[in-house]
Amino acid sequence: MSRIPAHVAFIMDGNGRWAQAHGLPRHDGHRRGASVIKKILRIAEKNGIKYATFFAFSSENFLRPESEVKFLMDLFEKFLQKYRKTLCEKEIRFRAIGNLSQLPISLQLAIEKLTQSTAHFDRFHLTIALNYGARSEVIEAMRNLLKNKDANAENLTWEDFEQYLYTKDLPDPDLIIRTSGEQRLSNFLLLQSAYAELYFTKTHWPDFNEEEFLLAIEDYGTRERRMGKINDKPND
Ligand code: FPP
Repeated sequence: MSRIPAHVAFIMDGNGRWAQAHGLPRHDGHRRGASVIKKILRIAEKNGIKYATFFAFSSENFLRPESEVKFLMDLFEKFLQKYRKTLCEKEIRFRAIGNLSQLPISLQLAIEKLTQSTAHFDRFHLTIALNYGARSEVIEAMRNLLKNKDANAENLTWEDFEQYLYTKDLPDPDLIIRTSGEQRLSNFLLLQSAYAELYFTKTHWPDFNEEEFLLAIEDYGTRERRMGKINDKPND
């Protein structure tokens, strides 16, 4: 394969539609969606990707029926507990980004435990966005910046500002994949995706598989990433 993205972020859409299409309750779509994450991580590692970030729950998702929110919170917690051993064995560093303080306490504790026990790994980085919204992230960053007496508005640079974002330790995503046909970012990593390549597929997340993932990576390899500059070659 030609050029491999270092950081791929996923907007895992379509669990509900997948379940509906199979005559199943929405919960089954989410459950199957969780198992896809594990498969995708294996493929990412195998192909030399170093960072994978998954949008699991947006700030707006709290507006869903209480039973679905509760089911998802339990699913996230179980996922973290069940996957802990594998992450440690495979030396995968775990992070969660978002407004974590609004999540159930038991989930917050599971996040903290896994974050701490994998903090020394650097081989592969798994990040889950939970109760994440890019606009809230910016507001929280601004609040913290304004609290910092040493911050100087005149000399503020992007490098200074990004230190206040949830993603301060992560490189920007090179490729963002969204499943299930919608072609928008839905308040996900809006600043970090400034130069990301976007890839959309109609496949629902529970059906997203190796073949689809490799197609996305291959497509990324054909994109010309100028990052605002002009092409190096003359007359291009
Ligand atoms: C979007 O599909 C998906 C979600 C809001 C939840 C994402 C969660 C998972 C993939 C489950 C597991 C995650 C972890 C981290 C264990 P949707 O429900 O909006 O689908 P629809 O648009 O078809 O209704």
